[in-house]
Formats: sequence, structure tokens, C-alpha cells
Amino acid sequence: MKKVYLQTFGCQMNEADSQEMMLTLAAKGCTQTDILEEADIVLVNTCTIREHAEHKALSYLGRLAKWKAKKDDRKIIFAGCAAQRLGQKIKKKFPHTDIINGAKNIDNFASVIESQNLFDFEDKTNPTLENKSPIALVNIMRGCSCKCSYCIVPYVRGEAYSLDPKNILAQVQSALEKGASEIVLLGQTVNAYSYKGFSFSKLLREICAFDKLARLRYLSPHPMFINEEFLNTLKDCPKIARHIHLPIQSGSTRILADMKRNYTREELLAKLKALREIGIEVSTDIIVGYPKETEKDFEDTLTLCQKAQFSAAYCFKFSPRKGTPAALLKELDQEILEKRLDILLNEIKKSSKAAYARQAGTTQQVLFEKPTNGRTSNNFWVRTKKKYPVGAVVDLQIKESKDTILLA
Ligand code: SAH
Ligand code: SF4
Ligand code: F3S
Repeated sequence: MKKVYLQTFGCQMNEADSQEMMLTLAAKGCTQTDILEEADIVLVNTCTIREHAEHKALSYLGRLAKWKAKKDDRKIIFAGCAAQRLGQKIKKKFPHTDIINGAKNIDNFASVIESQNLFDFEDKTNPTLENKSPIALVNIMRGCSCKCSYCIVPYVRGEAYSLDPKNILAQVQSALEKGASEIVLLGQTVNAYSYKGFSFSKLLREICAFDKLARLRYLSPHPMFINEEFLNTLKDCPKIARHIHLPIQSGSTRILADMKRNYTREELLAKLKALREIGIEVSTDIIVGYPKETEKDFEDTLTLCQKAQFSAAYCFKFSPRKGTPAALLKELDQEILEKRLDILLNEIKKSSKAAYARQAGTTQQVLFEKPTNGRTSNNFWVRTKKKYPVGAVVDLQIKESKDTILLA
């Protein structure tokens, strides 16, 4: 029996793809190990969203040369978004790589490993993965057709398409029967989901109807696709998390237009207000130092953040990705990027701290991911003195907030 060590970089879609590839390997009789030295195969699933992410994946691959040389018959599979972008070129610089399986090719992984005669695998029926998490990730869309000016994803993941709701619902049911408490629906523009007239909102409603489901999340929604039908679904279905991770990228209409985001600052503010009115906490992604970003544009982002009071935000310095339109624009000085990032992070720290503080004294539904750590429906971390079973869902009174943790 071959043992596989898995290393995943990047977003939750990559986590889901990793699980899919691990299931394929399990069907070939492989088991997973957490100890690199015990492994026969290393599966590296990679990200290329920013230069730094790709760099990380490649330096990890570089370090694996030593591991591979220690024993005969060790194999390395390099998969995901960086693998898709760089393709077979990788083998020139890293000849110890055995298989390259790009992000567009996850569905075909089984035929790739078969055709490459990696090992004599033993086929296994009904393979399962050991899953200690109470959270199940379910892909509902693949690819992205948005072509935001700075983004590499559409190039490495291809055009968007929605998966059949019948298969999605079957996957959800099976995860719940195996003990999951929370389902996370995944897609790059997850709320653009549409399958022959079957909308994202309809999918949310059907999933909420499962008795065993405690909580439903989705990642990443795009502001452009937030509509009345979706807002009504949030109002009607309390199992849908009272939190949305809604990447805004910028608060300046001029920059948003250049990024091809398809919404203005005003539209964004109106949507954020509508979400707040339903009691939804919002976190976001922001890019600082987009090539055409002036001081005034950056100010617009800051004032939007002050109004929106995000509970958290991932803030990224613009990173040019070859092949995207924004990579052709003249970059701003790194010093400007550093300075703006600093100011923005400071602002976010304040709103995040305030968001945690607002929870003190409230009662929150906590879903335990570890015996003394869980998350509220509106996505705050909670720590308890008492131990709970992983996956338990309990209403708890929040005693106090400490920076970015709630105590209950
Ligand atoms: N599909 C999601 C985001 C996927 S990428 C969406 O549309 O919102 C995750 C985040 O990486 C993005 O939200 C963006 O903030 C950041 N990002 C993407 N490309 C980038 C680049 N070239 N430079 C810096 N940050 C980038
Ligand atoms: Fe990238 Fe834009 Fe697609 Fe998100 S919506 S993955 S930022 S192109
Ligand atoms: Fe990275 Fe690919 Fe996700 S580039 S962010 S792993 S879609």
C-alpha cells in the first residue's frame, strides 16, 4: 500500500481539489500520511494568485529533491494553479517532478496517474478519506469568466461552469450522513451559480432543507451577483451563516472600473447596507497599489472601510501576473504600496477589534471545530473553558472579547 503526503497551498477551492485527488489516489489503494519520511508519494497542490504564492510552491518543490533522492521509487505530483500556469516547463528546472497535473485537469487525474505508470496500484472500490473536520467543502462551480484585469484565475482555471445540482445535493447529503455539521459551497464567483435556470438561491434553499445541516457557508461571492432573490434567501434561511466574505478589491469607482469589477462604490455601499440590515457581518479582500491607484482612490478605499466596518479583511499588495491586462500597466513604487498597506491594515485592525467587541454580552450559536474552539455563525472565533465534542453546535453567552477571540 502506497502512502501519500499532501501539501496544499492556496484557497479553499484548492483544498477541495486536493481532497478530490486524494480520493482518486485512495481508489488506487493509497493511504494518507502526515509524516513526510514515511511517504512514497508527495502531492503538492499549488497557487499562483500572486508572485509570492507561486514562489512558495516552487521553493517547496525544490526542497523535495532531497526527500526524493533518499529512497528509490519515491514520486512527486505537482498539481493545481501554478502547475497549470507553468506546465511541463517545470520539469526543466525541477527534473525530479514525476507528474504535472494543472488545475484545469483535476477531473482527469485518475487517467493521468494511470497513463504514467507511477506504481502498480491496487484498485479499491468505495474508497473513503479520513475526515476529522465537521466542515465539508463542496465545489459547485469550476473556473471563472469574470476576467478582472489583475487576476490570473480565469487563465489557470478556465471559463466558469456550474455543476449539476443533483450531484451537489447528493454530495451534501453524503457529507451530512458521514457527520458533517457545516457545508461550505465553493466557486470563484459562487453566487453566479446557475444550472439550466436553477439559481444559487434555489440551491441554498434546497440545502437548508436537510435536517442534519447546522450551518451553510459559501465562498467567494462577487458583489455584482448580489440580488434581491439572494437577500430574501438570507432573510428566510437562518442556517445560512450570518457572515459573508465579500471581496470588494477597492472603494474607488474609477479603479473598480479599470479592474473590470462591474460595480461602483455607491452600488457596493448599498449592498453592504442591505446585508447589514439582515444582520450579516462582512469580511473582505482588498488590493492596494493597483497601478492607476492615486492618493484619492486610496482615500476612497479607506473611507469605504470606515463606513463598512468589516469584521476582517485580507489586504494584498498588487502583484503583476503575466498575461493579465493589469500586468502591462506601469507599477507604482513599492514604497507607496508598503505605506498604503500599512495604513489600511491599521484601519482594518480597528474595525475588526470593534466587531469582536460588539459580540460581548450576546448569545451566539457556536460550531466546535476543536474541543475548546469554535466559530459563531457570524464568523468570530470563540474559546471555551469547557470541552465540547467536535462538530457540536451550542448556543453560548459571550462573556468578553480579547482582540480577535471571544471568550464564552
Ligand atoms: N474569486 C474571488 C477571489 C479569488 S482570488 C473574487 O472574485 O473575489 C483571492 C484574492 O486575491 C482576490 O480577492 C484579490 O483580492 C487577490 N488578488 C487576486 N489577484 C491579485 C493580484 N494580481 N495581486 C494582488 N492580489 C490579488
Ligand atoms: Fe479573479 Fe475576478 Fe474571477 Fe475573482 S472574479 S477569480 S478576482 S477574475
Ligand atoms: Fe490560488 Fe488557484 Fe485559488 S491561483 S487562490 S489556488 S484558484
